Amino acid sequence: MEIDTVAIPLSAGEELRHRAETQLSTHRPGTESVPSTTETLRLLHELEIHRIELVMQNSELRQARDEAESNLERYTAFYDFAPVGYFTLDRNGCINSVNIRGASHMGVPRDQLLGHDFGPFVVDEHRQLFTDFLDKVFKQGDQLTCEVTLQDKEHHPFTVLLKALAAVSRAECGLALVDITERKRLEGDLHSYASRLIVMEEELRNKLATELHDDICRDLTVLGLNLAIIGDGMAEIAPKKMTSRLKVSEKLVKSISHTVRSIMVGLRPPGLEDFGLLAALRWHAELFTKRTGIQVCIQANDSFPRLMLNKETALFRICQEALMNMAKHAAAKTVTIKLTGGDGMILLEISDAGRGFIPPEMLNIRNGSGWGIRIMRERAELIGGKFRVDSVPGKGTTVSVIVPFEER
Ligand SMILES: Nc1ncnc2c1ncn2[C@@H]1O[C@H](COP(=O)(O)OP(=O)(O)OP(=O)(O)O)[C@@H](O)[C@H]1O
Ligand SMILES: [Mg+2]
Repeated sequence: MEIDTVAIPLSAGEELRHRAETQLSTHRPGTESVPSTTETLRLLHELEIHRIELVMQNSELRQARDEAESNLERYTAFYDFAPVGYFTLDRNGCINSVNIRGASHMGVPRDQLLGHDFGPFVVDEHRQLFTDFLDKVFKQGDQLTCEVTLQDKEHHPFTVLLKALAAVSRAECGLALVDITERKRLEGDLHSYASRLIVMEEELRNKLATELHDDICRDLTVLGLNLAIIGDGMAEIAPKKMTSRLKVSEKLVKSISHTVRSIMVGLRPPGLEDFGLLAALRWHAELFTKRTGIQVCIQANDSFPRLMLNKETALFRICQEALMNMAKHAAAKTVTIKLTGGDGMILLEISDAGRGFIPPEMLNIRNGSGWGIRIMRERAELIGGKFRVDSVPGKGTTVSVIVPFEER
């Protein structure tokens, strides 16, 4: 029986011992009175109860210890074999513990990592970023994330997403590390496809507009002229029914020409190529007001310079989509387009004081819509620019693009 390994609770044990000793001292053979049988039986009974109590306590303790051990085993298995690298770092970035995955990321046996700095695994360009990140984690006590490039023992770079949370004591922090190299590569590929699609779309628009202009419009003009000549020549001889048919056909040709020209305008903004971004924006703003009743205020210097055509086209398209969004979603009466330049940069801002919305990162593409903001961003990045949407529900929205300026 294992009861000898467990201490008797002090008070109960002491009291029992005291009573047993008293009893023994009064039970010296020949000198003391012999204790009554009843008293001896009572003491034996109590001893038996204590013994049973101890056995029960002991088995409960064993059970608790077994549970704790199996929980620890389970936790250790989770920790060690987690698909995510996990480190514990002290305030100086020294590695206090690391799981198997974390060690395999670094290409270093686990025991050799302990006590070493995490910093040297971060590539030089990101070292400061990582130091600032760690400082923030210990200062703020919230879970923070950061993307950095690490290098393993063989100096192979890989990109990771770090998630860190300081312990309550702030003596150390847990750092989870997920390898996102492949995801980044796919994102890069997608980005290039998107860029290529945008360029192709613009090329296709230009091609269509050129063909409409050079072939269809020209043919329609000739057709219109021919119909007019035939109409004139037949005015005297042909029956009225026929000449009126000819008149209807002439009108039809004019209306088709008009439609084709509108399509051309939609495909390629007039004036953009010849007169530049500001002229094209003024023209578009006028058309937009005519169609929607929303006033557009353009703030720009008349001497705003010409940019490379791809930049002018991208900025024009961004403005077009921002205005369209405003008309569709903002419920505002006016919109301001600001076009400024300075310090080698061009800034385009389109703002309204309308309904506003929650930041775009929180929106999902639903039912095939919701591409506008993404495409605006792609267009801006394609010309080396930075794109932003600032919006506050109830206060309005500002879409801005900043691009480096190169003289045309
Ligand atoms: N100026 C704005 N005012 C209020 N909400 C806006 C504004 N611009 C965009 N939004 C909100 O952002 C969402 C995303 O805009 P986005 O242009 O990406 O998609 P969309 O206009 O809904 O669809 P799509 O552009 O693909 O036709 C919109 O659905 C709208 O809720
Ligand atoms: Mg849109």
